[in-house]
Amino acid sequence: MTPFTLPPGYARIKVVKSFHELVATPFGGGVNALCWPRTLAGDFGEVVAQLGVSEGIVTLDDARLLTLPVSAAGRAAIDILLEDQRLLRDHDRDPVLNCIHGYPRDEEPGPVPTDVFSFHTDSAPVEADTWLCTYHGPASEGLRNDEAQRRVDLRETRAGLLKCFGGEDDADFREYLSENCYDLHYAPVPQARPFSFGLGNLWRIAVDWPGSPVPACIHRAPETAPGQPPRLLLIS
Ligand SMILES: [Fe+2]
Repeated sequence: MTPFTLPPGYARIKVVKSFHELVATPFGGGVNALCWPRTLAGDFGEVVAQLGVSEGIVTLDDARLLTLPVSAAGRAAIDILLEDQRLLRDHDRDPVLNCIHGYPRDEEPGPVPTDVFSFHTDSAPVEADTWLCTYHGPASEGLRNDEAQRRVDLRETRAGLLKCFGGEDDADFREYLSENCYDLHYAPVPQARPFSFGLGNLWRIAVDWPGSPVPACIHRAPETAPGQPPRLLLIS
């Protein structure tokens, strides 16, 4: 694994040195993403291969991980997967570990794509954050806030949305944008430099909630080409 390097010239990410620091560091001062860079021992590819699944999304519970027939390197990977989840559960989180061969796409793409391949922010009605780690396969991607435009603010897109809505650009329309999550999706500006979250690194990113002191962190699931390895992703 290559060591994580910060996207150049981007001050919204703070690198920390431990799980404890990830938990204890508040968002603020513009920082909306915390990253604990890690180079993990263990063969996560072996874990994925031993699942014997080739499509869709499989959620792995502890019992399944513990019964996989793996080598010592696979066992080392499993120990890390279990330990990360234990740490999160100890902090009242509800982590989910998924092996992902593919995500569902929007069935009928409207004026704004709303699937996980589209840059977006997560949102919550109360204070919240999102934890992410890609152990294997293509890693999650981030987009600098200053290189992103809300899709609902793009003139053509907004006109298309107004047409779908069939009304005026008023409070009801904004409610419609929010209900459909259209207002959470972003388009990269032409010269944007999306960055990778990397493999093995544990991230805590800011979510869009009323009262958040920072803009939410914009991210997406990577596009996966046929033949690429599945993703092994922890999310909480
Ligand atoms: Fe997300």
